[in-house]
Amino acid sequence: MQPDMNSGQYPTPRPNIDSIRPYKPGKPTEQVVRELGLRGPIDKLASNENPLGPSAKALAALRRELGRLNLYPEDSCHILRERLAKRHRVDMESVLVGNGSVELIMMACLAYLRPEDELLMSSGSFIMAKVGSMVMDCRLREIPTKEYRHDLDRMLENIGERTRIVYLDNPMNPIGTMTTRRELDAFIRAVPPQVLVIIDEAYAEYITSKQYPRSFDYYNDNRNVLILRTFSKIYGLAGIRVGYGVARPAIIETIGKVRIPFNVNRAAQAAAIAAMDDKAHAARSRKQVDAGRKYLSKELEQLKVFYIPSFTNFLLVNFAVDSQVVFEGLQQRGVITRPVKQYGFPNALRVTIGTQPQNKRFVKALTAVLADIQRAGD
Ligand SMILES: Cc1ncc(COP(=O)(O)O)c(C=O)c1O
Repeated sequence: MQPDMNSGQYPTPRPNIDSIRPYKPGKPTEQVVRELGLRGPIDKLASNENPLGPSAKALAALRRELGRLNLYPEDSCHILRERLAKRHRVDMESVLVGNGSVELIMMACLAYLRPEDELLMSSGSFIMAKVGSMVMDCRLREIPTKEYRHDLDRMLENIGERTRIVYLDNPMNPIGTMTTRRELDAFIRAVPPQVLVIIDEAYAEYITSKQYPRSFDYYNDNRNVLILRTFSKIYGLAGIRVGYGVARPAIIETIGKVRIPFNVNRAAQAAAIAAMDDKAHAARSRKQVDAGRKYLSKELEQLKVFYIPSFTNFLLVNFAVDSQVVFEGLQQRGVITRPVKQYGFPNALRVTIGTQPQNKRFVKALTAVLADIQRAGD
């Protein structure tokens, strides 16, 4: 074998890239089984996935597509965009599909952020916009939340000449709280036009509250918003990666310039088109989350564990101790949750609402873990 002439030497990356700590997704079940040698059922309540699985219609469409995988997909996602445009009553030129909505967040950062620009967001928001700002080496301004919600007044005060993107996840991940229609209407009215407001509505389809904003009104008012939705949550298609954005055509055209060709594969397009029509699956998923959230809230109250009332398919649960101990105890008992230290919550775990048997196993495991912690402390 040739001696390694390059040992210890690597090309120098851009300094801002060197300092990025990559996004850490929830642990896949396969990894936990491998690491801990667990047997029996594993409940992954770590990534806000849909425990009911994909819709049967999406699966049937996928199977039909398999024989055509030798062919490139339609690059423009024509049919999917047409359906989405019809659903939201917008022009087709206003819709862009991404490899998950995370890709669209990164594309917006690539397209708009110059080094002298600033991205504004809440601390404790979904992390992708922060990563985008770091990739672009621009300024990041994080505004603390107020009572676990976006502090829109303070955000507004902090919008300046250099602000190019404001990122708002609504509801917030990992906190689960919602900004209301009245609050967001006033905010959008006040934001200057040189700012792109990304409104990330990954969990919108779970929400029945009349107070939830009607973000498409902002689009209709020609505001500079990019509304993001995903097929990863209520549609149960996180594994196939489809998200979409809606904005005025000029914004979509700009963001589309940094899109990598064929970013949404053939199977993903077929599955998403079919999933959109499966209203029964979405309704079932919403009902399961509503019931599970009520059940878990009640059980957590009984265990005297603090949680934040949520509008999503997950709960942020806070403990009196470093949550890593609770996380590991739950994992030993076959329940995978999500530590959220990187979001500034060292004592919290984010717990996805599962099926009722999963929720019950979680409560049983948590009760045992908390009893162990109590005993160790006595
Ligand atoms: C607020 C928010 N945005 C985006 C995403 C990612 O969605 P996607 O799977 O479409 O990339 C998530 C996933 O957890 C999220 O919570």
